Amino acid sequence: MKRVRVAVVGVGIWGKVHLRAYSQHPSAETVAICDVDEDRARQTAELLTIPACYTSVGEMLANEELDAVSVATPDMAHTEIVIQCAKAGVHVLCEKPMATTVEECQAMISAAKDNNVRLMVDWHNRWNPPVYAAWKSIRDGELGDVRYIYYRLSDTIYVPLKMLPWADRSNPLLFLGSHALDSVCWLMQSKPIRVTCWRMEGVLKAMGTDTPDMYVTVLDFENGATAVVENSWVLPQSSPSLIDHKAEIIGTKGTIYLDPTHGRAVEKYTATTPEGFPNTSYPDMFVMPEVHNRQVGLAVESIYHFVECVRDGVTPLTSGADGLLNTKLILAAERSAEKGAAVEVSS
Ligand SMILES: NC(=O)c1ccc[n+]([C@@H]2O[C@H](COP(=O)([O-])OP(=O)(O)OC[C@H]3O[C@@H](n4cnc5c(N)ncnc54)[C@H](O)[C@@H]3O)[C@@H](O)[C@H]2O)c1
Repeated sequence: MKRVRVAVVGVGIWGKVHLRAYSQHPSAETVAICDVDEDRARQTAELLTIPACYTSVGEMLANEELDAVSVATPDMAHTEIVIQCAKAGVHVLCEKPMATTVEECQAMISAAKDNNVRLMVDWHNRWNPPVYAAWKSIRDGELGDVRYIYYRLSDTIYVPLKMLPWADRSNPLLFLGSHALDSVCWLMQSKPIRVTCWRMEGVLKAMGTDTPDMYVTVLDFENGATAVVENSWVLPQSSPSLIDHKAEIIGTKGTIYLDPTHGRAVEKYTATTPEGFPNTSYPDMFVMPEVHNRQVGLAVESIYHFVECVRDGVTPLTSGADGLLNTKLILAAERSAEKGAAVEVSS
């Protein structure tokens, strides 16, 4: 069986998750990495025995025979790299959010189409067992017509203050809302037509990180249904989980409540758990838990899906078109928050 020759661009926190997933998948072979931080690129290549490392995507594409690339650079730095890879005929798995403007998303979609490459966006919650269970139940008709979704995806303040050096160039809507909006649209299977959003700020700005604290976004769908999406970056450090992920889905025949982070599959109290992440009382059991030194969970599943789509010539479950809609919703939410009024979503 031919192995898919992959490279990862951006080998920070999440690029390393991509590298780990590729190292575990029998059909993937990581042949190169690229990062503008030369020391990080070299150290990562040495540590993981990856044959080649670069600081320029152009140089990497010129020197390597690649089938596929993961783009795991910061939120605002995906577009140019995705387009370069597509033009070189390389399939792309792009981290979320796909891009920060409609024009960038359109340029990425065109580049992929013109060069006949697959473009997937890494909304891995479609592989999250509770979210998938809800999707399946809706598809099987158990809930009847879905009328309402409440969807919360928030982080403790650790993420903007300690995890992301570029938090002030992103925000909770781009970083978390992108996932939540994709999940809601995937579950609802109707077109969002109107967005109303409230943005709150003050806590992070007072701490020197110039970005909003949280967003509450209401989506009206073509089928008459409504969704409320809540994304905060200021949950207390002492929270029992780094992520707070919850959803309620109400249909004409049934209801589902999801609680992927507070389900307490593991509940732990030690001298350090009051400090919160990484010593949480409710350790992550869905996103990226480790079992016998192997990473399992939804974070690797979406990356495996990409490898298998490239290997088998299959269209991935998430697309550039989903990415374009997602960015339109994020931009409409920002406009709504600024205007203090609902904003129609352009088709
Ligand atoms: N799917 C998820 O749940 C999830 C989780 C975390 C992060 N992410 C996404 O992954 C992406 C990366 O996030 P992160 O937390 O790993 O950030 P990070 O800051 O830890 O890593 C980003 C890396 O990209 C490198 N970089 C920046 N510009 C570059 C360029 N032009 N070319 C090559 N390398 C470049 C940086 O030097 C850095 O090493 C973001 O889009 C983020 O939203 C997704």
